[in-house]
Amino acid sequence: MAIEKIIVLEDEAIIRKHLTELLQRRNYLVAQADSIAKARQLIDKDDFDLVFADVRLPDGAGTEILDYCQQKPNAPLVALMTAYASVESAVECMKSGAFDYLIKPFSDEQVDIVIKKATEFNQLLKVNQHLSSGGTSDEEHVILGNSPAIEQLNDLIRKVARTQATVLIQGESGTGKELVSRAIYKSSTRSKQPFITVNCAAIPENLVESEFFGHEKGAFTGAVSRREGRFELAHGGTILLDEISEISPVVQSKLLRVLQERELERVGGTRTIGVDVRVIATTNRDLTQSVERKEFRQDLFFRLNVVPIHVPPLRERHGDIPLLAESFMRRYAKKHGCPVGGFSKSSLEALQHHQWPGNIRELQNVVERAVILSAEGALIEPDLLGLTVMSSGRITIPANPSSQGEESSQGATIKAERPLPKSTHDGVQAEVSNSASGEILSLGELEKRHIFQALEAFGQNRTKTAKHLGISIRTLRNKLNEYGANELENEASEDNS
Ligand SMILES: Nc1ncnc2c1ncn2[C@@H]1O[C@H](COP(=O)(O)OP(=O)(O)OP(=O)(O)O)[C@@H](O)[C@H]1O
Ligand SMILES: [Mg+2]
Repeated sequence: MAIEKIIVLEDEAIIRKHLTELLQRRNYLVAQADSIAKARQLIDKDDFDLVFADVRLPDGAGTEILDYCQQKPNAPLVALMTAYASVESAVECMKSGAFDYLIKPFSDEQVDIVIKKATEFNQLLKVNQHLSSGGTSDEEHVILGNSPAIEQLNDLIRKVARTQATVLIQGESGTGKELVSRAIYKSSTRSKQPFITVNCAAIPENLVESEFFGHEKGAFTGAVSRREGRFELAHGGTILLDEISEISPVVQSKLLRVLQERELERVGGTRTIGVDVRVIATTNRDLTQSVERKEFRQDLFFRLNVVPIHVPPLRERHGDIPLLAESFMRRYAKKHGCPVGGFSKSSLEALQHHQWPGNIRELQNVVERAVILSAEGALIEPDLLGLTVMSSGRITIPANPSSQGEESSQGATIKAERPLPKSTHDGVQAEVSNSASGEILSLGELEKRHIFQALEAFGQNRTKTAKHLGISIRTLRNKLNEYGANELENEASEDNS
């Protein structure tokens, strides 16, 4: 993180003045203090990034200010200045927690080096804080699959990773858009720099701007200290704007400016901050439609859509299913300590015939549950997969372009209210009997099962489920009420997608 505000704590006026002027020439905001008491007041009043502190001061030792800083939530870094060019005094400074030290007299270059180190250190610290909120293993970042679609995708990833171009990744929910964005980052020249993600759909609307661009202390109620935004955190690296279609028009126009000018101002701030960031955005909506409906700015769409990448739905690459299922099975068997004997032949067939509206995430959930439920070392049989509609009554959209209208590209492969006899009808082939009893299911029952299956596929997230099924959240809620399944605990799943 860039160093902006610095305190020079030094009782010798000449040194204090010299250092202050040097820092001001370098455009830092500098506050001066000639005693520990004065420095404390400054630290209480404002957020500073760095303190240059003399070791011997009239009212105590410079290390006292170090202790004081370390109790603060956004502790500034402290570089001690000592007149004693001895190894012992240097060691003492570092032992007491100083970030660095300068031995007097020091050159301008030595000061510059300390600031450069502090900038790098600060960014690492902030990025680490950001990353410590979640983390996945390397194994989970591998794009599995050997279908032609995945090979093409990998090719494109390799090509685009070599450039600095902005990338827009589109695809249905759960197809692997975030995974693709990480793959681009990992094979790019920025792979040693931060990768910062922002889930635009998960941040409350009134906080999006501050999350993106940061805020100054006191910018709004609750802004108790200065905070860098995700763009600043990503400086030098890559930012992932996940679910970009969800941002409001106001934030869209501010984002456009960052993409065009690579500069921003924090909320409540006046200083213009330059950022060097590679942008990757994802969306599971068709952004061209959002542009047509005037929900998304066309100029922003063009800025984002420099290299478009489409991640195909799982139903268009059935050939990848056995490989994906087997490797998820191994992953979850290890994670839960449940040894399994693999999938039975009929399970593999069932997996390959399912339409996977929730794509790879749905497959992961199905396999994880089957692994947990299976008996130790036993083969996983179809009943453990819980693909109810599939195993009892198969519903398939053939991979025939003429019958793959808009419905399937939206992932809404099944409309349960349509009459679905056991024969082919409008290109939709369906079996609507319960295999156990041979009884023909009613449309109501079929719809109910389909709704539960879709909920399962989207991890009980009602917003996504309703969107996917093409019904309003209210309709979904009413139907669940009818089924007696509308418990309060599920309400939260309507907002946090
Ligand atoms: N080809 C793949 N190989 C292995 N795992 C995959 C693959 N594609 C996706 N996954 C896994 O599936 C899950 C969903 O992927 P991801 O989060 O990238 O999807 P998404 O398209 O961003 O979904 P959403 O739109 O819901 O955010 C992740 O756990 C991811 O690791
Ligand atoms: Mg995602």
